[in-house]
Amino acid sequence: MEKDLLQSRKDLLMKHKVPAHIAVIMDGNGRWAKKRSLSRIDGHSAGIDTVRRIVRLAGEMGIGYLSLYTFSSENWNRPMGEVMGIMKLLAETVKKEVPELNKNNVRLKTIGDISGLPRKSRSALIDAIELTASNEGLTLILALNYSGRDEILRAVRTIAERIENDTLNSDEITPEVIESSLDTAGMPDPDLLIRTSGEYRLSNYLLWQLAYTELWITDIMWPDFSESDFLDALESYSGRERRFGMTSQQITTVSGVVKKYLFKGEKT
Ligand code: FPP
Repeated sequence: MEKDLLQSRKDLLMKHKVPAHIAVIMDGNGRWAKKRSLSRIDGHSAGIDTVRRIVRLAGEMGIGYLSLYTFSSENWNRPMGEVMGIMKLLAETVKKEVPELNKNNVRLKTIGDISGLPRKSRSALIDAIELTASNEGLTLILALNYSGRDEILRAVRTIAERIENDTLNSDEITPEVIESSLDTAGMPDPDLLIRTSGEYRLSNYLLWQLAYTELWITDIMWPDFSESDFLDALESYSGRERRFGMTSQQITTVSGVVKKYLFKGEKT
């Protein structure tokens, strides 16, 4: 019965345009574990089960990109045992999941500076990226050793080097040049950001890319986040009007295509 309801909600959402890119801040693994007198690593393991469920559902729904904030540059400051536990889980999971990713046509990518990860985690990731590279369904992006400010800093350095090498003039720096220098080059900006565990902040995630992203925040801890919760987020998103700084009148949606009518003298 519950399965039928999920299926019909899914079908209804898929009749409309689903978001091209959903970004997720998966938070609350630690608190979920503490409440059950488990270790924080048990919480992260339970979080991986949620990742599996949500990746499968996002793929089935035809979502193009799903980016998961998996390990931030600031997470290195956690107790060493937890950091190493996450890195071990990451290496094991990525290795183990390759057949399932291939079966579901999912392509794996990362953003962030993975050169800073322990060798085993890094090489498991590089292998999985290579082994899933030709898949054409969902692109699953793991943000690892990632922070939005660090990404912007690295992009600025790349652009400065191009200016030093005389391959770019400063007056040629456009938003497109900046975008193509970010880790997310070639990917659409997120349409929707989901954050679990009831915290109302961006935590240094995709700072450039989230400029016009719709936000959906829930109190649910990531290990408890279900398919039904994911559909709640999509249903909320589907009812919203995205104005990108324009007025309501300027935007008319006709069968999923956003047409912009610019009225003279209208305030934007
Ligand atoms: C946030 O919960 C979670 C993390 C910082 C780590 C997420 C990592 C995983 C789910 C494992 C990675 C593996 C794959 C393959 C995706 P928290 O620890 O900050 O929770 P708290 O705020 O309750 O302490």
